[in-house]
Amino acid sequence: MIRLAHVTDLHLGEADPALVQALAADLRAARPDALLVGGDLTRAARGVEFTAAWRLLDSVAPDIPALAVPGNHDIPHWDLLERFFAPRADWQAALPQRACMVLELPGLSVIGLDTVSRAHWHFDWSAGGVSARRMRALREALETRRSRRCVVLTHHPLLHPAWAAHRRPVRHAATALELLREHGVELILSGHLHRAALLRDQGRPWQLITPSALSARGGSPNGWTLLEVGPDSITPHGRTGFLELA
Ligand SMILES: [Fe+2]
Ligand SMILES: [Fe+2]
Repeated sequence: MIRLAHVTDLHLGEADPALVQALAADLRAARPDALLVGGDLTRAARGVEFTAAWRLLDSVAPDIPALAVPGNHDIPHWDLLERFFAPRADWQAALPQRACMVLELPGLSVIGLDTVSRAHWHFDWSAGGVSARRMRALREALETRRSRRCVVLTHHPLLHPAWAAHRRPVRHAATALELLREHGVELILSGHLHRAALLRDQGRPWQLITPSALSARGGSPNGWTLLEVGPDSITPHGRTGFLELA
């Protein structure tokens, strides 16, 4: 049995310090084998916020592997020069050496898909997209993965639940979903909406949206997801209320 911790939307820079400590304690207590970090580590992509986020994640277990994808808050918002020409400079600089985009575990491959866009033709630049270059990289990762069983980690959900139907869809989400279906991907893990959802009504891959671990935005309880991966099953356990338990 492999135990994976999916933690997303930390938004360090606006998080309650007591909740940060409680989250770290809850993650440590669960003794995960790997961390799946779903982006929006920061509020405004500041270096100090990235440092605080990785200090928290390193305190869980500094030696377990971590697959990390950025969120829309992890690229500069106001500095357009940086946003267009070096959007992931601070994200990359803060990544620990153990961070990766493809995680090969015994019997399971986990692939990260970066869905963050610098700009759109509409005004909602927080929305995601999968460019042709990223689609090619995704296809290559799917074709060269070691295990038949596969999970994909994104920041933006590729499908929205009914209560989020008004949100802008990820650009080229349908093409990406088709590619994931072709390659037999079992599960897509996402965040961004700050509210939990499990979408199983459109066949495989299922989609699990984990709520924000620390942010109060969205009004839903904070949480993260512990995934227990068995020989032919993946069982998600939502972890909420860790502040009360601490
Ligand atoms: Fe977020
Ligand atoms: Fe987001």
